[in-house]
Amino acid sequence: MKYSTQLLGLFTSVALAAPIDLSRSDLHKLFIRQDVQSAVNASLPNVTIFATGGTIASQGTSNTQTTGYSVGLGVQQLVNAVPEILNISNIAGYQISNVDSGSINETISLKLAKMINEELAKSTVSGVVVTHGTDTLEETAFFLSSTITSSKPVILVGAMRPATALSADGPLNLFQAVTLAASPAAHNRGTMVVLNDRIGSAFYTTKNNANTLDTFFSTEAGQLGVFVNQVPFFFYAPAEPVGRVTFDVANVTDLAQVDILYSHQDMDPYLFNVSIAGGAKGIVFAGVGAGGMSRVASLNAERVFNATGVPIVASHRSSDGEDIVAVGAYGGVGE
Ligand SMILES: *[C@@H]1O[C@H](CO)[C@@H](O)[C@H](O)[C@H]1NC(C)=O
Ligand SMILES: *[C@@H]1O[C@H](CO)[C@@H](O)[C@H](O)[C@H]1NC(C)=O
Ligand SMILES: *[C@@H]1O[C@H](CO)[C@@H](O)[C@H](O)[C@H]1NC(C)=O
Ligand SMILES: *[C@@H]1O[C@H](CO)[C@@H](O)[C@H](O)[C@H]1NC(C)=O
Ligand SMILES: *[C@@H]1O[C@H](CO)[C@@H](O)[C@H](O)[C@H]1NC(C)=O
Ligand SMILES: *[C@@H]1O[C@H](CO)[C@@H](O)[C@H](O)[C@H]1NC(C)=O
Ligand SMILES: *[C@@H]1O[C@H](CO)[C@@H](O)[C@H](O)[C@H]1NC(C)=O
Repeated sequence: MKYSTQLLGLFTSVALAAPIDLSRSDLHKLFIRQDVQSAVNASLPNVTIFATGGTIASQGTSNTQTTGYSVGLGVQQLVNAVPEILNISNIAGYQISNVDSGSINETISLKLAKMINEELAKSTVSGVVVTHGTDTLEETAFFLSSTITSSKPVILVGAMRPATALSADGPLNLFQAVTLAASPAAHNRGTMVVLNDRIGSAFYTTKNNANTLDTFFSTEAGQLGVFVNQVPFFFYAPAEPVGRVTFDVANVTDLAQVDILYSHQDMDPYLFNVSIAGGAKGIVFAGVGAGGMSRVASLNAERVFNATGVPIVASHRSSDGEDIVAVGAYGGVGE
């Protein structure tokens, strides 16, 4: 299912009073190369890692355990596992959170967007890497793609196997992500996702398999590039995804609640009412086909829209394709 950019319009419209705590003196760390006892080599690019948790930061109880492990490794341990990255870039790290990606929320994603924009505004910073759980990595990737204004690279990276597993994929994924963030070839390509040797656009990439390593790709739009012997190879010259819209979240402190409803045969029309009762300020439905639902459900959706004015936006449960406005007077159209 694709996301709607109209949806993000809702996000910026709601700003509540309480500011997000951006104090970070305890979070920031510049990593020291042990062999030279120095953190900065002025000849190298500077990359900042924002660590949020996820499988890449997880440990199992045995080297064959690849489900049911727990998050716990900090950004220092992620870097310790790949000391080679300190030879290709000076690395600064921020521990933003340390949670599985199902627990990433608006506090964390807004904080990320604001801090990344500030970081990339520094002339010495070449690019940014975000380590993230894979389950909702595509959501943070799309959010950053819609809120980062810099032309410098922002690379989302994760792992499918915990750090303790045989053939753990995290360390090489992290090495490739830092390589890409430091690469001049990565400029003007939007936010990107790196896993399993592939470089994907954050705008299109989705997780397609719950378990396997070869899970992140975009079926219809394809990949942007691959790593060959750890060197990024792009298939095409830099290009922006058509239709990408960016929002300035510098002053946004709260995101509106938007629910996603999944359409199916005999869909319960009451779900729209439940969403409204739960405080939704917008509803996206993953429609059948190109954005449809049953006559009964669509009539109820229209009643809900007529009564509340809450936007109900069509998307589709099939992973690819364009939406149509299926039925009725919805507050927004799919794209
Ligand atoms: C600093 O980086 C440059 C460029 O990669 C390298 O040639 C040099 O050896 C590095 N200096 C140290 C002290 O590692
Ligand atoms: C990396 O940061 C150091 C210290 O701020 C700076 O001297 C150096 O020029 C930066 N490297 C690049 C490529 O901008
Ligand atoms: C980093 O580079 C230095 C030489 O500049 C080398 O001695 C050291 O082994 C390298 N470290 C890693 C982890 O590759
Ligand atoms: C988001 O998660 C973080 C970390 O668990 C937590 O500190 C914060 O309060 C959460 N924000 C909301 C709005 O629930
Ligand atoms: C954010 O707030 C600052 C300070 O009040 C203001 O100068 C700036 O224009 C605001 N930015 C946006 C996008 O509203
Ligand atoms: C919703 O409102 C429109 C415009 O007033 C009206 O044409 C339509 O019949 C209403 N839909 C339902 C299901 O009541
Ligand atoms: C949902 O809410 C609308 C608008 O208030 C109402 O007309 C409709 O009967 C409700 N639907 C159900 C199934 O309760």
